[in-house]
Amino acid sequence: MRNQGRSIGLVPTMGALHSGHTELFKKARDHSDAVVVSIFVNPTQFGPNEDFDTYPRQLEKDLETCKALDIDLVFAPERDEMYGDSELSIQIDSLNRHMCGASRPGFFEGVLLVVNKLFNIIEPDIAVFGQKDIQQFQIIQQMNREFNHGINLIMAPIVRANDGLALSSRNTYLSDKERVLAPGLFRSLQYIKKRIEEGIDTPGLLIEHQKSELEAKGFKIDYLNIFLKTTLQPMNTLEKEKSYIIAVAAYLGSTRLIDNILIEFS
Ligand code: PAF
Repeated sequence: MRNQGRSIGLVPTMGALHSGHTELFKKARDHSDAVVVSIFVNPTQFGPNEDFDTYPRQLEKDLETCKALDIDLVFAPERDEMYGDSELSIQIDSLNRHMCGASRPGFFEGVLLVVNKLFNIIEPDIAVFGQKDIQQFQIIQQMNREFNHGINLIMAPIVRANDGLALSSRNTYLSDKERVLAPGLFRSLQYIKKRIEEGIDTPGLLIEHQKSELEAKGFKIDYLNIFLKTTLQPMNTLEKEKSYIIAVAAYLGSTRLIDNILIEFS
């Protein structure tokens, strides 16, 4: 493809493809000539008590989806191809201190390890990641800069079901009752954003109130807070000219859901 002078867009995935991924593929198509999708359930980004063994795997179906969507190449390596002789790791100083980094130790180090490998193997011109995992995007962007990959990274907006639930491969774990409750997370984020846009600049109480409401509905909150977009540090006071992320992670039963909304004042 490169010899033919075609630019290459990479969309790294862990498979179990859904319409959220389709949007990532479309973005890649818009910005490159050939689209490469990687499918690899990356063991190094799962903690010992997480869902690596049960994570949905459906390679045949995913390959059909990619074929139907005219993906030019699928890279679906085996574990040994990626980690046969592994020795090194990548450390993160502060971007993983809060949000998912705080409750999933080692997660972003594992993500960086595999994405660094994928960047080196595929050598794409652009790579597309979803806004749903916004902390992941910011950390990968930092790696792209610091490790001089020189790839144009694109963040695709969150794709939602009609009731607002952010699409995720893990939504398949939800029971019918949990699935009805799940969009409550997005409604809370929207409410917080609206109140901030109305002028609240110290949102501590507002957030505590939303946490209690979600907990009363049956969510177990991991975090719900406002973070500065550049540093991913939690903020108590908001300033007009900065960009923020209102982000949440919460359990419904044993399913961990994440979601976020951006506030860009400028
Ligand atoms: O977002 C994901 O699906 C994964 O974290 C990624 C980027 C494919 C790395 O395994």
